[in-house]
Amino acid sequence: MANNKTFTMIKPDAVEAGNIGSITKMIQEAGFVIKAMKLTKLSKERAGQFYAIHKERPFYTDLCNYMSSGPIVPMILEKENAVEDFRTLIGATNPKEAAEGTIRNLFAKSIEANAIHGSDSDENAIIEGNFFFSEVEKF
Ligand code: CMP
Repeated sequence: MANNKTFTMIKPDAVEAGNIGSITKMIQEAGFVIKAMKLTKLSKERAGQFYAIHKERPFYTDLCNYMSSGPIVPMILEKENAVEDFRTLIGATNPKEAAEGTIRNLFAKSIEANAIHGSDSDENAIIEGNFFFSEVEKF
C-alpha cells in the first residue's frame, strides 16, 4: 500500500446513530474508493490488540470497552495521498476541535466516541487493514 491506501472504521456511536450511510457517502464523494468493507464487532480483547499502541494511556481501558460495545464498520480505502487526505476529511480527534464540515464535526459525540478512525501513516494503514481483512477480502 504505497501511499494510495488508508484504513478506517466507523465506530460504535456512529453505527448506533444510523450514520453508516451518511458517512460512507461523504467518503465516496471525497474521491475514496472502497476496497474492502464489513459490519463486524470487536471483543474487548481484540479492541485491546488493535489499540495496543495506546495501552499505557489513561483512556485505554475505557477505549477498549467502548470499541467493543457495538458493531463497527472497518474499510480499506484507495485514493492518491490517502492517509493525509482522509485525516483532513475526518477532522481532529476531539470533535470540539474538528473543522466545520468534517466527519467528526458532523457526527462525533465526544473525544472517545468520535465516530470514525483514520490511520496515521502508510505503515499503520497496512497493519490495520490486515487486522480486519484477509487477502481475498481486498478488491
Ligand atoms: P482514534 O483516532 O481511533 O485513535 C485512538 C482513539 O483513542 C481516538 O481515536 C479516540 O477515540 C481515543 N482517544 C484519544 N484521546 C483520548 C482522550 N484524551 N480521552 C479519551 N479517548 C481518547
